[in-house]
Amino acid sequence: MAASPVYDTIGRGYVAHRRPDPRWERAVTQQIGDARVVVNVGAGTGSYEPPDRQVVAVEPSTVMMGQRPQDAAPAVRASASRLPLSSGCADVALAVLTVHHWDDWEAGLDELCRIAPRRIVLGIDFDLHARFWLLEEYMPEVGEYARRGQPGADAIARAIGATVSLPLLVPRDMQDGVLGAYWCRPEAYLDPAVRANCSGLALAEPDVIARGVEALEADLASGAWHDRHADFTTRDDLDIGYRLLVGGDASVIRPGTVRPESRFRASRARPAAPGGRGSS
Ligand SMILES: C[S@@+](CC[C@H](N)C(=O)[O-])C[C@H]1O[C@@H](n2cnc3c(N)ncnc32)[C@H](O)[C@@H]1O
Repeated sequence: MAASPVYDTIGRGYVAHRRPDPRWERAVTQQIGDARVVVNVGAGTGSYEPPDRQVVAVEPSTVMMGQRPQDAAPAVRASASRLPLSSGCADVALAVLTVHHWDDWEAGLDELCRIAPRRIVLGIDFDLHARFWLLEEYMPEVGEYARRGQPGADAIARAIGATVSLPLLVPRDMQDGVLGAYWCRPEAYLDPAVRANCSGLALAEPDVIARGVEALEADLASGAWHDRHADFTTRDDLDIGYRLLVGGDASVIRPGTVRPESRFRASRARPAAPGGRGSS
């Protein structure tokens, strides 16, 4: 595991801007179905973790771990590429908006397959993502960098044996401040705190971001942005490439149902085999 995970730097204000969106949460919960044991890898502050199952979170950043709510599931400090958990210990391995951050994403996805028969991963179709107006019109370098360098939804789907790929559209009042969250609230992108909590913007070349933000500000002031995106006033949501990928043995869980006996407090959960790689 890297001595200083990236999110120890860029994750400091995460919970203030990155709350789980209830519509995305419903989509994830639906796929978790009646699974009892869930391992959430790259868990961060705990978004999208089901509160009524046995959950173990895996997260390398102490800054992110420190922002988990007091009653959140226990978290193990580890990297996806070497999970300190026994094979088959969970019903479902969950990974939300994290795989593109993994130093060795292929090893990490192999690990998901090792620990759980069912895998649920929220990934990004970076080709579509790069066509999002903020990137295409103002910061094409950011979209291009993501498109070339990151494991996209297709690669993740292959690795986890996904048979389901659900587009998670971004509603106009999106609660989780992902990069595309503010597609119809463009002024938000002028706020440095908003940008600091989207990794795609936080980790990009500062000059590229500064130039793009300046151009956006000018277009908002002149009305050019609103003229170009007049159709947004009547849209409820937008497809910015977020894909919920579900793979593995479909017989393990029934989507959309919850076993009554799985309703116990998450805080009682313990890792199946913590291993000894720095847990907290
Ligand atoms: C955008 S955040 C997503 C957090 C959470 N899943 C959510 O939806 O809010 C990405 C997370 O991936 C974690 N991460 C980065 N590299 C990782 C790795 N090699 N293994 C596991 N998690 C990693 C980061 O520390 C960070 O918490």
